[in-house]
Amino acid sequence: MCGIVGYTGNKACLPILLESLRALEYRGYDSAGISLVEKDGRAICTLKSVGGIDLLERKISDAKLDTGICGIGHTRWATHGAPSDSNAHPHTAESLTLVHNGIIENHAELETLLLREGYNFYSSTDTERAAKLIDLLYKRTKDPLFTLFEAQKMLVGSYAFGIIFKDRPTSVYAMRKNSPLVVATDESGSYLASDVTAILPYTDSFAVLDEGIVAELCEDGAKFYSSPFCLCEQSFQKVSWSAEQAQKGGFEHFMLKEINEEPSVISATLSHHLDSTLPGLKNIERLISGLSHIYIVACGTAMHAGLVGKYYIERIAKIPVSVEIASEFRYADSPLHKGSLAIFISQSGETADTLAALRRAKELGISTLAIVNVFASSVAREADEVLYTQAGPEISVASTKAYSAQCSLLALLAVKLGITNFSLSTQKAEEYCKRLSDELASSISSVLQKSEEIAKISSKLLTAEHLFYIGRGVDYYLALEASLKLKEISYIHSEAYPAGELKHGTISLISKGTQVIGILTDPSLAPKTLLSLHEVLSRGARLTLICTERILRENSIPDANIITVPDGDRILRPISTACALQLLAYHTAAKKGLDVDKPRNLAKSVTVE
Ligand code: M6R
Repeated sequence: MCGIVGYTGNKACLPILLESLRALEYRGYDSAGISLVEKDGRAICTLKSVGGIDLLERKISDAKLDTGICGIGHTRWATHGAPSDSNAHPHTAESLTLVHNGIIENHAELETLLLREGYNFYSSTDTERAAKLIDLLYKRTKDPLFTLFEAQKMLVGSYAFGIIFKDRPTSVYAMRKNSPLVVATDESGSYLASDVTAILPYTDSFAVLDEGIVAELCEDGAKFYSSPFCLCEQSFQKVSWSAEQAQKGGFEHFMLKEINEEPSVISATLSHHLDSTLPGLKNIERLISGLSHIYIVACGTAMHAGLVGKYYIERIAKIPVSVEIASEFRYADSPLHKGSLAIFISQSGETADTLAALRRAKELGISTLAIVNVFASSVAREADEVLYTQAGPEISVASTKAYSAQCSLLALLAVKLGITNFSLSTQKAEEYCKRLSDELASSISSVLQKSEEIAKISSKLLTAEHLFYIGRGVDYYLALEASLKLKEISYIHSEAYPAGELKHGTISLISKGTQVIGILTDPSLAPKTLLSLHEVLSRGARLTLICTERILRENSIPDANIITVPDGDRILRPISTACALQLLAYHTAAKKGLDVDKPRNLAKSVTVE
């Protein structure tokens, strides 16, 4: 999704803007641009280009800009208007240049108003309408603060803005609503970014700009205003991530690096929340006692982690769980169970649908708990309580280590819920925790050692146009995630099906050569899934099996490519099996020569509806 950067200060501005834009590339974009105040401070030069940052750099080099003193930059992921030079940001008006993330919903009304005032438009973006509205207000008020507080009243939708007024060329102004923006300062000047990874090379301290506040970034620091007349404070916090964590570290792709980090991020997540032999999680005790129902709400892979959470919580804590897609939950009219808890899972903590669903749950008076990876992100800040996964920065668009960290934290939460609601003895709880902390990381490491073997099996999938993943129970939940992972990075169409459901329609799609991947990790359900696999085999399907060593030993297994995963017990198996499925998707996409980390049309963090 779009990215914003900005800097003003006594260091060379242009390299900072470009390095920061590169750090945001992982979010997904289709054009990029900058506005730079050159050293003489007289003119603001705006350059933009459809395509990658390399193309923008070529334009910058042709324009022979100096390194500048103040500037803003943007990577755009098209929403209103196709990817093009004219739709790329920054957008300019007579008195200003600005970059914007989000969607201005009342752009059509603003355009009508601005046409009456004599404005013309050169792009089809909502952002240009916002730029010209701010220009109109600035011409009337001659003051950035009055202008921006007035603009806040007139803009409907979501926004994060970085703005330079031409007659104040050493300041960057910023404000936001429903779209993230952070401000940082060091001895050289001030930084603006939509994502903390952009500023990691310069400083480890940042403030998340509160909604409704206007920030003025200057060479000598940042000032924050709660109204045109009132200065206010914003709290600065330290980020524990380092710039190195956001590098590939010798791996061919971030996705492969991040899958390989799973043992360590799971250990870090578990030890962060374990209090000796039991889950700590003291801050959530008031939210979780006496629960009769739990909702888990999220999008994409985070929602699939929620399904594994449902499996854990229902089996370990015996509390019924509904897993809801956030974009549906936010508009659902259905009544909610009174006295329930809603858990919101998000890697980024900025997913627009998840945030809106959280706000709906709060409006309805339901207690809310967030499971989030990015510190101080919007979901983390707005939920009643937050539990952080310790996955570190996840750069690849395809979420892998964040999913495993979410699942492991959900396992711990299930144990905590079990103790709190008296469905689990302390002894049993200690056994689960011991197994998680002693065995999970090593079980995943043993799957990682099979990477080459999985790569060979992936070669057989390369020419598939359609593919089916099937499983029962938690294996079906894993199938959903495996199918999403394969689709998003390899562009092979795939579907996940509960094994027993195939014969109610979908089996008509199975013909000679159709690739079917069966997931068999639950010994009690394996014989049933095998029945379904025999049904597809007899219709000519080609089979790949992901199954535990024990199931392989104890059942008569049909002819298939086989990837074995460790037996473990039911709390360990889903997470180590997910790792094998992630590797299968990764190797398939990598062998197809695709841009694994930045799949087409996708953004890392989906901050618009
Ligand atoms: O940041 P979030 O966890 O809220 O993101 C949710 C989904 O957008 C995300 O998991 C998406 O499905 C991934 N691209 C899947 O790999």
